[in-house]
Amino acid sequence: MERTLVIVKPDGVQRGLVGEIIGRIERRGLRLIGMKFMQVSPELAARHYAIHKGKPFYDGLISYITSSPVVVMAWEGPKAVEAVRQLMGATNPTAAAPGTIRADFAVEIGRNLTHGSDSPDNGLAEVALWFQSNELASWQRDGECWVFEKN
Ligand code: RTP
Ligand code: MG
Repeated sequence: MERTLVIVKPDGVQRGLVGEIIGRIERRGLRLIGMKFMQVSPELAARHYAIHKGKPFYDGLISYITSSPVVVMAWEGPKAVEAVRQLMGATNPTAAAPGTIRADFAVEIGRNLTHGSDSPDNGLAEVALWFQSNELASWQRDGECWVFEKN
């Protein structure tokens, strides 16, 4: 079972796409284990995006993610990381496959609506960075065996 951190970035919240984005992940069948609406501090943004420090787009990325509130979620499931990345589409919305969130609703790489962890290890680390353990629910859905072959 993998975990992945999903962020509906400030543009997604401002544009009223929170329900649309959550709905796509929910309908895919992943299990929601944590969710909060928050303003991201510059300190948290810097820790989350530490890997991009020094890149030309870094300052713009930090001001984008801290510019307005976000919805942060932790999702769980088999292949959860890959499933969310597939739903989001490529980083650059004009390179994203039709039918993905970024292709359907975005045009610019610096306004690409969502974040999803890029590996199972980073999924675990990012969920731990953004959520306290008491903010995460350990639960099973009724009928989960119809989505997850093994629980
Ligand atoms: P994310 O982390 O947001 O899920 O996106 P990603 O893995 O597809 O892309 P990543 O390489 O981790 O980049 C993080 C975010 O930085 C912005 N970015 N801008 N102008 C640029 O060349 C550029 N490259 C990346 C995007 O907002 C991207 O989602
Ligand atoms: Mg990334």
